[in-house]
Amino acid sequence: MTQVNQSRTAAVAPGRLPVLGHVLQLWRRPIAFLESLRTYGDVVRLDVATWPVHVLTSPELIQTVLVGDAKNFGRGRIFEKLRPLFGNGLVTSDGEFHRKQRRLVQPAFHRSQIPAYADMMARRADAMSASWTAGEEISVVAEMRRFAMSSVAEMIFSGDLGQPAVAEVQRSLPTVLEGMLARTVMPRALDRLPIPLNRRFDAACARLRRIIDEVIAQYGSEKQNRDDLLSLLMSSVDPETGETMSDEQVRDEAIAIMFAGTETSATVLSWIFHELGRHPEVEKRLHAEVDDVVGTRPVTYADIAGLTYTDSVFREALRLHSPLLFTRRALVPVNLGGVSIPAGSELGYSPYALHRDPALFHEPTTFDPDRWNSDSADRPRPHRFIPFGAGQHKCIGDNFAAAEIVIALASVASRWRLVHAPRTTVREVPAGIPQPDALAMIPLARH
Ligand code: HEM
Repeated sequence: MTQVNQSRTAAVAPGRLPVLGHVLQLWRRPIAFLESLRTYGDVVRLDVATWPVHVLTSPELIQTVLVGDAKNFGRGRIFEKLRPLFGNGLVTSDGEFHRKQRRLVQPAFHRSQIPAYADMMARRADAMSASWTAGEEISVVAEMRRFAMSSVAEMIFSGDLGQPAVAEVQRSLPTVLEGMLARTVMPRALDRLPIPLNRRFDAACARLRRIIDEVIAQYGSEKQNRDDLLSLLMSSVDPETGETMSDEQVRDEAIAIMFAGTETSATVLSWIFHELGRHPEVEKRLHAEVDDVVGTRPVTYADIAGLTYTDSVFREALRLHSPLLFTRRALVPVNLGGVSIPAGSELGYSPYALHRDPALFHEPTTFDPDRWNSDSADRPRPHRFIPFGAGQHKCIGDNFAAAEIVIALASVASRWRLVHAPRTTVREVPAGIPQPDALAMIPLARH
């Protein structure tokens, strides 16, 4: 598929301006703009100022790049722009180094480890919903962010030693997210300008690194196995080289996992409560299932197998609310769908846009958990549903996220109905996964 045998060039998205390229569309309406690209072809070029990106809109070409011919592609620019924060952690590393690190980190995320995390997730979810008062408005986005942060943090640092790092992540999260989003669309030349956005972002990254370095130094001096991810990273030995990770590498992995695992799960959970609030018939069925399987006791890992409708609600929300854009870079000249792409070119794929393509999903913008029934003709096919990506960079936290979200959802639903606060209008705003601008809801006691 990737031999260079034709010389067609990619369709160019309309509205390109000299020098600015498509920056205005990306800045003003990035979500609608990325979604519109599928109407122009399977490979569509857009220019972020003078930086061209070939966005792939067909599931087959995306599979070719992520899986089939993955060896011909590196990570690309979005990931390079994230290096000031993630250093050389899994989210930004590539090639042989990435493969080695992935082997070392993988055991902590293996399916067999998830039951061990489930109790902690259920305890955290229970504490969250126990802190709400019937009739008193909550910010669902803030609550889910805190919950997801605390779950990931407890996996990384099991005891009190990690508390300063957790507090710092919570403090710097909005600044870091704002900086990451701006930097991914900003021309490279602006990264080093001493504008307030860059200063805030660089200072937050530096603080976070310093605090995590201190936690690692304390772990190192105590030399006890705390049975958490940080202990695992500090003690793991590469079977091929016999090497252990440097303290800086441990820090980069911890930061990468904390950030990759917080906003993603929190955003999907927030959308789930929004969708349930808008679809009372779905909410009723979910509540009936949770009453049947869980009742009013705490949720356990064993409950997940019985929560099939709850799982469909999660998958359907994830389909509609998936990551917006990831990049890859062609390491050699390639031909994708008849389009010649020179070595060094940037490619992009959007799970969000793919999951809303009417050629792939019946009534794609309708929230319909029943499309996930095992006998549904409309059940999404694997290549068309890629919220966690695919191939060597596929999300390492996919099983963790699925358990965390289903447990939190069942735990909240066993106690509360969440209804939208009066006069709430929810707007979708750009982010790694587009998120609700604000989501004020009111818990009503169910029992
Ligand atoms: C619903 C929640 C989540 C979604 C939708 C999601 C989505 C993704 C996607 C699409 C990728 C691949 C990006 C690419 O193609 O380069 C990815 C990578 C990654 N995710 Fe997730 N993620 C979620 C939750 C988590 C959680 C909970 C963790 C950790 C606790 C996590 C850790 C990571 C890491 C470390 C990578 C980089 C993997 C590598 O390149 O080897 N994610 N995620």
